[in-house]
Amino acid sequence: MTEPTAGRLQLGAAWYPEHWPTDRWPEDIHLMKAAGLTVVRMAEFAWSRLEPAEGKFDFAWLEQAIAGLAEHGIASVLGTPTAAPPAWLVQDNPASLAMGSDGRRIQFGNRCHYCVNAGEFHTASKRIVQAMARKFGPNPHVIGWQLDNEYSRVCYCDTCQAEFHKFLETRYGTLENLNARWTTAYWSQTYSTWDQIPLPVGAHNPGLMLEFKRFVGASYLRYQKLQLDVLRPHLKASDWVTHNFMGWFGGFDHYLLSADLDLASWDWYIGTGHHDHLTTGAIHDLTRGFKRRNFWLMETQPGNVNWSPVNNSLNKGEARAMAWHAVAHGAEAVLYWQWRSALGGQEQYHGTLIDQSGQPRPFYDEVRQLGAEFSVVSDLLAGSEVLAEVALLNDYPSRWSIEAQKHHQDFDYVAHLTHYYRPLATRNVAVDILPADTILSGQRYRIVFAPALLILDEARAGNLIEYVKSGGTLVLTIRTGVKDKYNALLPSRPPGPLAGVAGAEVEEYYALERPVPVHGDWFAGVSRQWAERLGVISGSCSLPVATFRASNGWLDDQPAVVVHAIPDQGTVYTLGVYLDEKAQQDIIDHILAAAGLRTIKTPPGIEVRTRLRPDGQEIHFIINHNPGEQSVRLPWPAHDHLSGQDVRGNTLLPPYGVLVLTRGEQEPQTARRAATSREAAPSA
Ligand code: GLA
Ligand code: GLA
Repeated sequence: MTEPTAGRLQLGAAWYPEHWPTDRWPEDIHLMKAAGLTVVRMAEFAWSRLEPAEGKFDFAWLEQAIAGLAEHGIASVLGTPTAAPPAWLVQDNPASLAMGSDGRRIQFGNRCHYCVNAGEFHTASKRIVQAMARKFGPNPHVIGWQLDNEYSRVCYCDTCQAEFHKFLETRYGTLENLNARWTTAYWSQTYSTWDQIPLPVGAHNPGLMLEFKRFVGASYLRYQKLQLDVLRPHLKASDWVTHNFMGWFGGFDHYLLSADLDLASWDWYIGTGHHDHLTTGAIHDLTRGFKRRNFWLMETQPGNVNWSPVNNSLNKGEARAMAWHAVAHGAEAVLYWQWRSALGGQEQYHGTLIDQSGQPRPFYDEVRQLGAEFSVVSDLLAGSEVLAEVALLNDYPSRWSIEAQKHHQDFDYVAHLTHYYRPLATRNVAVDILPADTILSGQRYRIVFAPALLILDEARAGNLIEYVKSGGTLVLTIRTGVKDKYNALLPSRPPGPLAGVAGAEVEEYYALERPVPVHGDWFAGVSRQWAERLGVISGSCSLPVATFRASNGWLDDQPAVVVHAIPDQGTVYTLGVYLDEKAQQDIIDHILAAAGLRTIKTPPGIEVRTRLRPDGQEIHFIINHNPGEQSVRLPWPAHDHLSGQDVRGNTLLPPYGVLVLTRGEQEPQTARRAATSREAAPSA
């Protein structure tokens, strides 16, 4: 019997038994067991083996694989195979193939070649998902399901266009309303029937472009629900359903799609180069924010990939540090993609645990080490969570609006958001990345960052104003409060409905060809790409705390950062700058200190994170992301659960070394707001 998964730390891999003769399977399963794998994901591209002809199912092989794994205590996660519609299916139903923006059908054979709105594809999807659900839903060894694989395709076929028109009609009610919201009088775009509205290819009306992005998400949402509705009735109470998202992929609103799922998961690949924990931590935190609880790392890189310009291997030990980094940020499972190199197919050169000869690769040993470590700390970590007091808001429509009209070619929404994340991560401050409409007052957040929150309606602004009224610290940045949800400019100066609470407004914004000097009370540096000349709103008690220095004349000596400390309420910072890294760290340090958040200064590449158990005990992770050794100083005696040793004082971490600590006996453990993590100040 497999064990229940609740809270258990899982280690696994994607396995495609259909690539191999069955007499090889026992050896593979033996090697999985020896590596400490507790879960295997299967079937996600196996449609042609599961349904070799319409309505003819062959599930015996999968049943045999699940049973073989279960005999060794390894649980199964099944993927619905719909990202790989078989050749017979697209031959019989040519309209199930997606169409590119050039009007040509997508070629069969590279996955995700389906049209997400095609009726015949929906019928075929329901058939295979329902048959699998009936067969494997009750199977005690199947613990969860992944729907499809990495939703991504955008289709431009006639079906999608007709669906888009229906979508718009539902959203706008009348063409009169749509024409007004989109200002279609501009360039004679006025529509007199719904079917005149095109699917935008390249630049187009901003309202149209934003709605098309929403429509793509709505199409996947509907398709996902179609699968959920046939799957869920057959599942056991403990089973979960997920989809493997792709981190910062911007093709749809991930909050919308996650709402219908039980568990969030994502696929983490480095590609060329190496892991930068200050950046990647944000993607774990993003995924944790989808359901606001722990998540699965459904795929990650075993050594190297095959699709990057240079498919270098991760250094020895780097993947292990990455796995612990994921766990420290709330991962409950780490699954490598994939178990064994297939002899054919498009991914022959991708990293695996078992090579083409069937023997473990050198990397296998690193996974085996993790397997042993996961089993040691699994009970300790059960039910533990990351509790952040800082939130960072992420808004897909604001991002899409900016991506369509960057105004500065280098302006990237995610890079700008990450520019706020990095200095927080550098100080080892836990962050929740949340949708922009999260109700914030009454929650535990002491600082909320709202980077480039371009789209702001009264309700969204009202939520942020309430948060400030309740004493919170709000940080507004450039490109905030510019547009309404239809992607029209607000008839006010930015930050629009937040100007009152900010005590400031944007008199003018400038895309910059070269950096502009900025001097402030707490920092000096430059603003790159962008500058906003701020004006203090008269009658408010806001204060400029930084000004631009000589540049284009318009900006010279004008306010660049304004602080509004509202009596008996909270504080709002308005940053009209996109600072260099040093100045950014300085201003974030100031904001953290002013809000009373304790930080942990660590040597470069050393990360300190905390998960809190339901009983109040804190588990601290200290991870050396450097390829060289690094000494840290522990502020209190502790027990390292990986080595089984007690540690104190100066402790040497080997390259990519990891400590999983609980505090020693001397001082009592304290609950949620405990200072222990903040005192854990390893230093060089
Ligand atoms: C051209 C067009 C104008 C306007 C400007 C913008 O000159 O004729 O309508 O689009 O470009 O720079
Ligand atoms: C994606 C897919 C996997 C595999 C990997 C290769 O994440 O989901 O099936 O193709 O990429 O890196």
